[in-house]
Amino acid sequence: MSRPTALIVLAAGKGTRMESDLPKVLHKIAGAPMLAHAMDSGLELDPARMIVVAGHGADAVEAAAVEHSPETQTVRQEEQLGTAHAVDQARALLDGFDGDVFVLYGDTPLIRAETLARMARARADHDVVVLGFEAADPGRYGRLKTDGDTLLEIVEFKDASDEERAITLCNSGVLCADRAVLFDLIAQIGNDNASGEYYLTDVPALARAKGLSAGVVRCEEAETLGVNTRAQLAEAEAAFQARARSAALELGVTMQAPETVFFARDTVIGRDAEIEPNVVFGPGVTVETGARIRAFSHLEGCHVSRGAIVGPYARLRPGAELSEDARVGNFVEIKAATLGEGAKVNHLSYIGDAEIGARSNIGAGTITCNYDGFAKHRTEVGRGAFIGSNTMLVAPVRVGDEAMTGSGSVITDPVPDGALALGRAKQVTKPGLARKMFDLFKSRAEKARKER
Ligand code: UD1
Ligand code: MG
Repeated sequence: MSRPTALIVLAAGKGTRMESDLPKVLHKIAGAPMLAHAMDSGLELDPARMIVVAGHGADAVEAAAVEHSPETQTVRQEEQLGTAHAVDQARALLDGFDGDVFVLYGDTPLIRAETLARMARARADHDVVVLGFEAADPGRYGRLKTDGDTLLEIVEFKDASDEERAITLCNSGVLCADRAVLFDLIAQIGNDNASGEYYLTDVPALARAKGLSAGVVRCEEAETLGVNTRAQLAEAEAAFQARARSAALELGVTMQAPETVFFARDTVIGRDAEIEPNVVFGPGVTVETGARIRAFSHLEGCHVSRGAIVGPYARLRPGAELSEDARVGNFVEIKAATLGEGAKVNHLSYIGDAEIGARSNIGAGTITCNYDGFAKHRTEVGRGAFIGSNTMLVAPVRVGDEAMTGSGSVITDPVPDGALALGRAKQVTKPGLARKMFDLFKSRAEKARKER
């Protein structure tokens, strides 16, 4: 049995190098704030407690944390005096908690849940476990001084000797220890170092001085990518997408050009679904088994059932719900609307705030006129209805089961079941008049040319 865990996510730092008014941890990767990614890797451990330490932009950071996971507790670090000081802000909240504490950084969004699980297991051998990685370019990361899997100490770059700077095993920042042990050690940390900060990285050496053991768990460098600049944000996005694409392929999704498909953090795609090139998924999309999303489509906040086909060039906005075998074709936008089983909207249409019954066919160019400048209104189309091309459905309005509208109609009144509604000017035909008109226009043009 693993011990109960508490997570502390540090998110108080300013992120100066992002050159942004938005707090760093709220910048998005795959449609979700970095903070949400960091919290997610920890949430998979099923923690008893989740605490986010906020400082810069605290109101927005706290709101995002609670929105992502409502049980999250937040605490403020008014002055950013260092990572140990940040963790210490959670001391009171965790008073009496009997279990392990994981410290994660809000700006390190790609740590895998399995990696944290490995750290939890390594606690069987060590009192303090730190996550390290072999860096291709160790730069300004803290360095891990080790003896096998035993961690002797962490040296911050600024305080390191040339010999220590030559070490390539680096500190990810993720650390795990028993709650009581961790806070005891943190209480002993001072700020007598090159930055004048309280470093969390002093924990392993202090542990060893007390006769406790510290160990290292290693992970791939890609997981520990810390985001401090827009360039690193783009790198993290690319790393996330690479991971999401291979996960989808492994699950049995067909993609001819996976490198052109963009997923959101929470995209769910079923087995045997097909995603054609250049498809973008915003947040909140589920695509069921065997559905097909054709090229150049954009989907967000929607649900596509088995056997449905979307696109090419379709846009599904939040609240679009496609039942089995529904069709949404090119240059069609669907918003807050349900398409029943086998319903078709194949060309150049806008369907918003609507319910379209099973097997109904919506002709090319049909528009639901759902907005009067102040409020949105609903359109209902029954089962097996036929909406003629270029129909304007002026909401609120209902077209009944097996009803029909004539092409080019502007429908403002209810159409009962089985009825045909025509809402267009009556055609007038004048035999031979076209020829006369052509002759007239031609002679006028010639006359004008001669006068010039
Ligand atoms: C830290 C580590 C370093 C490690 C690196 C990995 C320390 C002392 N150093 O350095 O060993 O290699 O991360 O990326 O821990 N934060 C607060 N309050 C503070 C200071 C920081 O909440 O007072 C938060 C930041 O928002 C950030 C995280 O803690 O999410 C890390 O802080 P940062 O200043 O980026 O530390 P690094 O210098 O990168
Ligand atoms: Mg950092």
